[in-house]
Amino acid sequence: MSIVSTLLLLAAAALIAWVGSLQRRKNTPPGPRPLPLIGNLLDFSFQRLWLRATAWADQYGDVVYLNLFGRGVLFLNTLDAAADLLEKRGPIYSDKPRMVMCAELCGCENIIAFARYGDGFRRLRRLMQSALGSGNIPSYRPLLQAETYAFLQRLIDTPENYMNHIKRFSGSQTLSIVYGYRVTTDDDPQLKRAEETLDLLGNHIASAGAGVWLVDVLPFLKYVPSWLPGAGFKRKAAAWKTVIERGADEPFQWVKNSMKAGNAAMCYCTMLMGKDAVDEKREYDIKWTANAMYIASIDTFLTTMSHFILAMVKYPAAMRKAQAEIDALTGGRRLPSPDDRAALPYVEAVLRECLRWTAPVPLGLPHRLMEDDVYQGRTIPEGTLIFANIWRMTHDPAVFVDPEAFIPERYLEAVDDAIAKKRDPWSYVFGFGRRKCPGSHLADASLWLVMACMLATLDFEKATDASGATIEPQQEYNNATFRIPEQFPCKISPRSEHAMQLVQEAAVAA
Ligand code: HEM
Repeated sequence: MSIVSTLLLLAAAALIAWVGSLQRRKNTPPGPRPLPLIGNLLDFSFQRLWLRATAWADQYGDVVYLNLFGRGVLFLNTLDAAADLLEKRGPIYSDKPRMVMCAELCGCENIIAFARYGDGFRRLRRLMQSALGSGNIPSYRPLLQAETYAFLQRLIDTPENYMNHIKRFSGSQTLSIVYGYRVTTDDDPQLKRAEETLDLLGNHIASAGAGVWLVDVLPFLKYVPSWLPGAGFKRKAAAWKTVIERGADEPFQWVKNSMKAGNAAMCYCTMLMGKDAVDEKREYDIKWTANAMYIASIDTFLTTMSHFILAMVKYPAAMRKAQAEIDALTGGRRLPSPDDRAALPYVEAVLRECLRWTAPVPLGLPHRLMEDDVYQGRTIPEGTLIFANIWRMTHDPAVFVDPEAFIPERYLEAVDDAIAKKRDPWSYVFGFGRRKCPGSHLADASLWLVMACMLATLDFEKATDASGATIEPQQEYNNATFRIPEQFPCKISPRSEHAMQLVQEAAVAA
């Protein structure tokens, strides 16, 4: 297809969408003024969109509406607005947008985060909840502990590679929990496979950086034959679909083989497969939910843990206070365990503040409104994409004094229940309603353990240059969805010989 005909088609589609939207746009919530046809395209920035959305919140209020080529885009900037729509009106706010390229052509529709709302989605959700509910988390403890100790050992051995160690930790912990697969080297083939899938999804298939796929604007193009000139997207999609499917098939086949051989470890897949034969449909669902879990957890962990290190480097007083609390409980003679959690309120506050300060998925993942709705007297048209502006909620100066600062003490003040809920990052960093993160309990248990063990055994400080001058860590972000910082210079060292010994013993025993 030539560039001219492509542009003509795009213009025609935009015109139809714009004319259709004119009627519906009357009385929509406030927002920047759109242009004819392209709507607010020029207002958008796909890099750090959460900052742009927060500037709109300051200007227009709790609920901000824009449109892209006639399609509504709504930002919910407060906990109340997100709860009112995504939770209380969940039945019409839990769909996902139609993504022809990503979901239909590349095969990602099997991954729950892209699945349309309906029976299939509900089946997948139930499956995940049955294995990841708070009651199941204790059974993952041995795996969490083994991965945590191995990670600490790697940090002690080569602290300068800390970002790679976090990547390996989040990847191998997920493979271990989901498939019972233990990673033993940085070049592990399953780890590479997981990275390949994530790279494909984030940087090629679903990335805003790749631009908008024409087939998403003009869905009938999905039927053009692959050999036609201009149908390169179909050839790409076919190749990418193979990679996506291989990413789900290979590790799942590995678990099935281990189960047959009678040496499978306890993990998400074995817990759901049980001892009895499962039918084909259930097996398919287990395979794809397992795949969704590792796709969804790797980058969120990477983001949260790298921010934890950044916070400890920038706020040494908080680190020392948390370390003192742990030392007072353990006497430095053992590593903290999940059973210590209730006795370590300051460490708990550090974890909460870390989640708030990081806001790992700052705009959540988009939901799609399934029918016209009215909120606060304003119309929200069917098909609107809904973003929960989690960044704004976690950095609202009306809720958090000095929101840019890392202050764990803010959770230790006595406040009434309503304020406590508003201040509790657990209320929003995992999203809302029927699509709320199904891995939140697992993330909670794992992050607590790894942070408590890092605090017990390691010191985090600013790095110095050759002349001895302190290097201030800079935060650079190059990802549109997650707040993954680039590696920053810092110094990580064991707190004592004894701490090193504790880690070594734990890593060997696990
Ligand atoms: C710090 C860790 C994590 C954070 C902050 C986080 C946050 C989120 C957020 C904001 C969403 C979007 C929710 C919405 O649409 O309203 C989400 C979805 C999801 N998360 Fe997480 N997540 C984390 C870890 C995990 C882990 C460990 C798993 C799996 C074990 C996981 C699995 C998923 C899945 C499958 C979805 C898609 C749910 C759906 O569309 O129905 N996440 N997560």
